[in-house]
Amino acid sequence: MAYLLGLDIGTTGTKTLLIDDAGKVIAQALAEYDLLIPRPNWAEQNPDDWWTATVATIRQVLAASGVSPSAIVGIGLSGQMHGSVFLDEADRVIRPAILWCDQRTADQCRWIHDAVGYEKVVAETLNPVLTGFQAPKIVWLRDNEPDAYARVRKVLLPKDYVRLRLTGEYATEVSDASGTALLNVPERRWSKVMLDGIGIPESWVPEVYESAVPSGKISAAAAAETGLAEGTPVVGGGGDQAAGAVGNGIVETGVVSSTLGTSGVVFAHLDVPVMDEKLRTMTYCHAVPGKWHTMGVMLSAGGAVRWLRDTLCSEEKAAAAQMGVDPYMLIDGEANRVPPGAHGLVFLPYLTGERTPYPNPDAKGVFFGLSLMHEKRDMIRAVLEGVAFGMRDSFEIIKAMGVDFTQVRSSGGGGKSAIWRQIMADVTGEAHWTINVDEGPAFGVALLAGVGAGAWATVPEACRATIKPAESLEPDPDKRALYDKYYGLYQDLYQRLEGAYTDLAALID
Ligand code: XUL
Repeated sequence: MAYLLGLDIGTTGTKTLLIDDAGKVIAQALAEYDLLIPRPNWAEQNPDDWWTATVATIRQVLAASGVSPSAIVGIGLSGQMHGSVFLDEADRVIRPAILWCDQRTADQCRWIHDAVGYEKVVAETLNPVLTGFQAPKIVWLRDNEPDAYARVRKVLLPKDYVRLRLTGEYATEVSDASGTALLNVPERRWSKVMLDGIGIPESWVPEVYESAVPSGKISAAAAAETGLAEGTPVVGGGGDQAAGAVGNGIVETGVVSSTLGTSGVVFAHLDVPVMDEKLRTMTYCHAVPGKWHTMGVMLSAGGAVRWLRDTLCSEEKAAAAQMGVDPYMLIDGEANRVPPGAHGLVFLPYLTGERTPYPNPDAKGVFFGLSLMHEKRDMIRAVLEGVAFGMRDSFEIIKAMGVDFTQVRSSGGGGKSAIWRQIMADVTGEAHWTINVDEGPAFGVALLAGVGAGAWATVPEACRATIKPAESLEPDPDKRALYDKYYGLYQDLYQRLEGAYTDLAALID
């Protein structure tokens, strides 16, 4: 039997997954690492931590499965998108990587729009330049850390730094490269207009591949460190959203995904590139050759619930530790004791600014409507509902773009929560399906590795062979009607607060 390995270098940890060539999960391992917040609105990580987690999880998976490394016929890499790893001429990391959720680059985004010309930016990349993307981070380094900037010889995305350590190759693939703001997205190649307009040497960006195509092989050094077989092919892989979509079977029109990870994403496959007229969703290359996708991205979805767990739920955490269960199970139980509408409490989930539908780095979280009657459990329910309202914003935009779909598939850590999935169904009016696998991006890139190795002829064929819908939660018409009213208020609150967010940002500065 042949085996495939998928790695997902995420924001909270790295997951390594081993499957067989029928799509069956054989073993998996997760190693976590820290997020560094040196200043409000900043988010960084040490690329060495990703490598340590990669080595540890590959070794664990090999040991737990007993699979011979030479039976692994392909490896796929996925990871958090948009981040920048700055390397010097000896491939040394110059400073901590700046991540997708970092909001420091508002001035640099404006500068790029002026330097290149806004229309040209949109024609080349199909998107405006947003604070999380990679290109403005490079400009930020130029403006703020000139000594570091002078040493830069390569800039890589997070998963592509791990690829360099595994294979010795500087390479990326179209789905993740789309999130740099340096790719010509319609033509699936680096954009000379963007690189020249910003002043980034072409030698700084890696070779760009289609996602299921081999981009390198495990080197002798990486084989010694990880236990993998030297020469095992590593395919392009995908940014976590495109890879997660492959792992959910979102590779043809008609099915969309609703992912509650740290971020919250509504993702639709496109046969041709289509954009929202106000550019509120992102249109990128898909990990399926010659296809694209559009996605609405909220920056804090599961991240908002994790924040709640870590700031307000120490009791639940302690009780869960005693009971040997996940604290989120108890947190869900509390939300379940509160009726829809959380007794008139509305939460705006903009804890790290927002992208869709408001690309505003200054937006902040808000509990609106607090009174003496409210308890912690109301706040928990309001957070789940607030994130669902934000996800509904993306659903509405994607529908208005004329993207037809008949099935919504839930995924991400939050998608495992039955109460949150029900709230999602009630708020959006769309039944939310689970599927037979919930391994997300690591599963998606393992399938891409299988296509690269010839186990399946195409990406849709790989998905059809391994992924099936399991069960659905249907929207409740009464709750939907109530949520419609709260959704109106939720949308209105942002409009009313927009100016106040700018005032607050000036105070914080
Ligand atoms: C997608 C995005 C996030 C990150 C982290 O555009 O910013 O989903 O990839 O998961």
